[in-house]
Amino acid sequence: MRACQVDFKWLFFASLFPCMVAGNELNNAQVSFVLPILAHGSNIIMSNDDGWAEINLRTFYDTLVDAGESPVVSAPAENKSGTGSLDGEADEVEDGCEFDSCPPGSPAVGFNSSDPRLNYVNSFPVTSIAYGISTLSPKFFQGLPEFAVTGPNVGSNLDVQVPFSGTVGAAVEAIKTGIPAIAFSGRSGSQTAWTAPTPGYSIVYAQLAANLTATILNSGKPYLPEGIWLNVNFPASSSTSCSSVSDFKFVLSRIFPAIPFFEPDDVETCGDDRLPLERKVVGEDGCYVSISVGDSNKLDADAAAQEVVLKKLGELLTCLP
Ligand SMILES: *[C@@H]1O[C@H](CO)[C@@H](O)[C@H](O)[C@H]1NC(C)=O
Ligand SMILES: *[C@@H]1O[C@H](CO)[C@@H](O)[C@H](O)[C@H]1NC(C)=O
Ligand SMILES: *[C@@H]1O[C@H](CO)[C@@H](O)[C@H](O)[C@H]1NC(C)=O
Repeated sequence: MRACQVDFKWLFFASLFPCMVAGNELNNAQVSFVLPILAHGSNIIMSNDDGWAEINLRTFYDTLVDAGESPVVSAPAENKSGTGSLDGEADEVEDGCEFDSCPPGSPAVGFNSSDPRLNYVNSFPVTSIAYGISTLSPKFFQGLPEFAVTGPNVGSNLDVQVPFSGTVGAAVEAIKTGIPAIAFSGRSGSQTAWTAPTPGYSIVYAQLAANLTATILNSGKPYLPEGIWLNVNFPASSSTSCSSVSDFKFVLSRIFPAIPFFEPDDVETCGDDRLPLERKVVGEDGCYVSISVGDSNKLDADAAAQEVVLKKLGELLTCLP
C-alpha cells in the first residue's frame, strides 16, 4: 500500500475506484489517501556516463514512465565515459552540452523546461547522481529515491572495465548513500543523440532494463541487501540476432574470476558452487544477459548476498547450456 499525493492523474484513477476514496473529502488537490491497487510509481533516480542527452538513457526513461514508474534523470552534461568514481564541482557549460542539448554558457546544472525531470549536471557521473539524490529527490520525491538505475551504457562494462566505468561509479555512489542500484550496459551501438530515430538495440535494452527493475521492485523491500548493487550486461542486439526482448535469457554471474583456494564458494545454482564469469555469459551464443552481484568496492559480493538476489529473481534466471 502506498500513500499518494493526489494530483490530476491520481484523481482520474480514484474515480475508477470510488470505494477506495469513500470517506475522503476530495475537496482540494492536496488531499492524501491510500491507493491499494496501484502497486508502483516507484521513485527512481537515473544517471549514466554517456551524458544526459544520449538516447539509451532517454529511451530507458521513457520506458519507465510508460510503465508507470516515477523516474528523474540527473546525468552529466557531456560524455563522461570512463571516469569511474571521479567527483568534482559542476561548472558552467562553456561549449554547451553534448549534441547541442544545451547552449554554450549554460549554467552548471540545468533541466529541460518542458520536462523538468530531465536534468544535467556539468560534472562526473558520481557528481550528477549525488546531486540527483541530495537536491532533486527532495523536490520531486519529497525524500530519498527508492531505487537508482544507471545506463544502459553504450558498450559493455565487464570485469576489468568495471572500475573505470562511470555507469558503475554512479551506481556505487548511490549504494553508498543507501539507495539500492543497478548499472546497465549494452554491447551494441555508439553514442547517439536523443533526437535521432531510436535504434532497435536501444528499445530492446530499455525494455530488458525496465523488466529487471520491475522484477526487483516487485520482490519487495529491502530491494537489495545493504551496500549491494547489480552489474547487468546485455549482449549484442541487431535486427537479425537478439532483436526482441523475448530472445533474451538472464544468468546470475560473477564480475571477476575467483582466486583459487582462497575465495569462498559462490551461491549454489545450476548445479555449481561457482557462478559463470559475466564475460563468458554475454559471449555465449543465445542472447544471455549477465547479472553480477557487486559490493561497494566494485568487487563480487559474497554468497549470502548472491543468494538473496538469486531468490528475488527466481524464475527469471536460467542456466548456461
Ligand atoms: C566519449 O568519451 C570516451 C572516453 O574519453 C571516448 O572514448 C569516446 O569516443 C567519446 N565519445 C564521443 C562520441 O566523443
Ligand atoms: C526536452 O523535452 C521535450 C519534450 O519532451 C523534447 O521535445 C526536447 O527534445 C527535450 N530537449 C532536451 C534537450 O532534452
Ligand atoms: C519480465 O520478462 C519475463 C520474461 O519475458 C516475463 O515473464 C515477466 O513477466 C517480466 N516481468 C516484468 C516485471 O515485466
